[in-house]
Amino acid sequence: MERADGPSVPGIRGGRAADRTGPARDTGVDLNTHPTHPDPTEAPVTGWWTEAVIYQIYPRSFADANGDGIGDLPGITARLDHLVELGVDAVWLSPFYPSPQADAGYDVADYRGVDPLFGTLADADKLITEARSRGLRVIVDLVPNHTSSAHRWFTAALAAGPGSPERDRYVFRDGKGADGDQPPNDWQSVFGGPAWTRVTGADGRPGQWYLHLFDPGQPDLNWDNPEVRAEFLDVLRFWLDRGVDGFRVDVAHGLIKQADLADWQEPQEILSGREVDKPRPPMWDQDGVHEIYRDWRALLDSYPGERILVAEAWVEPAERLARYVRPDEMHQAFNFEYLLASWTAPAQYAVITRSLEATDGVGAPTTWVLSNHDVVRHASRLGLPVGTPRPHGIGIGDEQPDAALGLRRARAASLLMLALPGSAYLYQGEELGLPEHTTMPDEARQDPTWERSGHTLRGRDGCRVPIPWEADAPSYGFGPTDASWLPQPPVWAEFALDRQRGVPGSTYELYRTALRLRREHGLGRGTLAWLATGDEVLSFRNDGLTVLTNFGGVPVPAPAGEVVAASAPLTDDGRVPTDVTVWVRSA
Ligand code: GLC
Ligand code: CA
Repeated sequence: MERADGPSVPGIRGGRAADRTGPARDTGVDLNTHPTHPDPTEAPVTGWWTEAVIYQIYPRSFADANGDGIGDLPGITARLDHLVELGVDAVWLSPFYPSPQADAGYDVADYRGVDPLFGTLADADKLITEARSRGLRVIVDLVPNHTSSAHRWFTAALAAGPGSPERDRYVFRDGKGADGDQPPNDWQSVFGGPAWTRVTGADGRPGQWYLHLFDPGQPDLNWDNPEVRAEFLDVLRFWLDRGVDGFRVDVAHGLIKQADLADWQEPQEILSGREVDKPRPPMWDQDGVHEIYRDWRALLDSYPGERILVAEAWVEPAERLARYVRPDEMHQAFNFEYLLASWTAPAQYAVITRSLEATDGVGAPTTWVLSNHDVVRHASRLGLPVGTPRPHGIGIGDEQPDAALGLRRARAASLLMLALPGSAYLYQGEELGLPEHTTMPDEARQDPTWERSGHTLRGRDGCRVPIPWEADAPSYGFGPTDASWLPQPPVWAEFALDRQRGVPGSTYELYRTALRLRREHGLGRGTLAWLATGDEVLSFRNDGLTVLTNFGGVPVPAPAGEVVAASAPLTDDGRVPTDVTVWVRSA
């Protein structure tokens, strides 16, 4: 194998992914063939979203204005200046629509309103206006795979009976077996248990079954029905007319099911499958979904301003995900492969390279994400032993993460992420270094996963705990009272915003610095060139900055130049310790 020597930084292999000094552990990518991103021969994609940092607000847990223990829209509006100070470009709001809250609002009963828990439509309008007046864009969540069972369509479907046009908006089927008492197929719900629930007919006897890939309170819509398509185009118009900048599309890979609803026989995972050559589950990533997004894109493009669609699609490998962001479809897709990657230099190098190449291939920007409302927060995830499979929640009695290690790695990971070209997503509280609540009493849990999995999967409550603003205030400043819909752990005090604001070295100030430099240097639209990669160190240049993360056991020399950000202090002689990222401005 030919070798090209990179910069002579001791401890770093440069120029090629091939091993020079130790046992071979090739990342499989040739730095000479894929040296930079984007491909300099292609015209760059432009638009605010290609480089935006987008902050996810989980309305229940961000800020509570009226003190009932549940965050609300007026609470968000009152805290918008925090986001301006932090330096993000946009917010994405998880659902605030009328809902029985069977799945924390991802069970929508009315797509054109606001649940009284969160406020009123006037509060939503005010939030959008106030955000936009501060230069913040607003993205709302759209949940098209399923409605709530309290949606008027579902009520009508139950009343109308088998074979009716009302039932055809959902996926109703007769059961199997002599009495129809077996579900139509073997699909499981993502939250555990069968994906089918039997309804009672008008005669009071057991009737048909309906499909719900999630909770029984979330019946799946039938996207082959033109009425369903027309309705959602209208819902998009409703929010576009109110001035939103885009939509995060929930379960975007689930809308179309394989027509024969064939048995699957495998455990249910929201992921579509890692390998290209393995059969795809009949409920995920079916080719028919793309036509829907083409229609939506055409609608968005007919509006002024650059309105965007973001796919929540748990689709692997990256090439399959890239199909969602072809030029006439969505603008972005969450990069969950990145979120799931292990904390090792080869794994990080491989996922970054693959992500960039896959989206370059369709002319779309890459996205980066480490935390959201569905996964264990990265400050805790990274405190578990490297290689631990993605935990479905952590609770009392589970192996507890190493909190200090987790935070240290989380800061290094975030600083690495924010240096990458593309768009980055932050989840509320990660700018404070918030850990997961890993010792929440099980009685307090609200995620349907815990009950439906027969108490085997803890679920997602631990990342959804109301966030701390003021260390010494009731509910840590979440609201005016001490009410909080999920219990806040005592460690929240030390993570509160007021303990970190203006404090050099705090996680909050690290994020602010990173976001400021990212903007100043145009890192989101920059050109990434790998400098070194190996078993222990990753290093690349993005325009005027050199970025280095040390995953190895011993400190390594910092790149030459002025250190402008570091996820933890360097050694006295200026080297970069284990689990630390630095940004260096080239001399
Ligand atoms: C998405 C949401 C998740 C929700 C599910 C069903 O994965 O992010 O919170 O439970 O869809 O709507
Ligand atoms: Ca409230």
